[in-house]
Amino acid sequence: MQKRGRSFIGAAVTLRDEPREPEIIHQDFNSMTPENAMKWESTEPSRNNFTLTDADRYAEFAKKNHLQLHCHTLVWHSQLPLWVSEGGFDNKTLIGVMENHIKKLVTRYRGVCTRWDVVNEALNEDGTYRKSVWYDTIGESFIPIAFSLVRKYDKKVQLFYNDYNLEYNNEKTAGAKRIVKLIKSHGVEIDGVGYQAHLASEATPTAPGAAPDQKTLEAAFHATADEGVNVIYTEIDLRMNTPATADKLKVQAAAYERVAKSCLAVKRCMGMTVWGISDKYSWIPGVFTGEGAALLWDENYNKKPAYAGFLKGIRG
Ligand code: G3I
Repeated sequence: MQKRGRSFIGAAVTLRDEPREPEIIHQDFNSMTPENAMKWESTEPSRNNFTLTDADRYAEFAKKNHLQLHCHTLVWHSQLPLWVSEGGFDNKTLIGVMENHIKKLVTRYRGVCTRWDVVNEALNEDGTYRKSVWYDTIGESFIPIAFSLVRKYDKKVQLFYNDYNLEYNNEKTAGAKRIVKLIKSHGVEIDGVGYQAHLASEATPTAPGAAPDQKTLEAAFHATADEGVNVIYTEIDLRMNTPATADKLKVQAAAYERVAKSCLAVKRCMGMTVWGISDKYSWIPGVFTGEGAALLWDENYNKKPAYAGFLKGIRG
């Protein structure tokens, strides 16, 4: 991967009592994303009361294991405490609240975070802006403001806009392109766009929600990369209807292969992160009823065919 000019293969991590996970991280990954620990509800549950013990554990783990740390996430409508989302702040005060949060987190993890997801999931499926306290109070300029504030407190960390369903090269992808242009039009830096890649591993790539064919994945990357930013996959998981069968696992392996290939085929794709390690803990069954088995290791930490498919895609 590095020989081919890419910088990381990562996993979302929840530090838990599972001895196989650190071993796997050590063997297979050089980057990690804290799955929940750096989100607003975990780090600033009430105004100016920062609870960073848990987030610190992830930063320490990354340092100790020489991993890149993909820090997730600063400005998001979800996992946002009510004191922010229903605080009734005016424009100026809300920007102050945002700056106080960004300043604390970005300064504390300066030199440890390789990348920050600065703004997460600001778009609706049709590419318009999602209703949120940020957009409703500040308007679209909440996005360049957030990026400029992160840069103010860390001159080096890479700044990402991150969203899901950008992989289809459709209206939502065009929305992400518009965001890149918007940020730049304010004279503010953005390093890249994160494509989450929470997709279904259907045999037919055109099925709704399925991982699209490779050409579409590449075109979706180009939509933003051609604006002069890097692109990455930030949260890959390719779910199936459970229970898994040999046939479905084969289809999933092929989907992992084409997702990986699409990154390697696009020069500006710098790396990929899978959203977890074992199927045992994936968020999918809790949200998509009857679906799951979306990751590279099964519930017993055995490598699945998807692992070989992903590796094949990486090696080309
Ligand atoms: O920590 C509490 C625990 O104290 C409580 O007993 C338990 C009861 O439900 O909940 C625990 O919190 C859960 C948290 O994960 C930590 O496990 C929340 O309920 C649960 O909603 C939360 O889910 C996370 C989800 O984001 C929330 O939106 C998932 O783990 C996490 O994988 C998921 O990740 C998101 C990315 O951040 C953004 N992109 C989409 C992706 C998938 O939804």
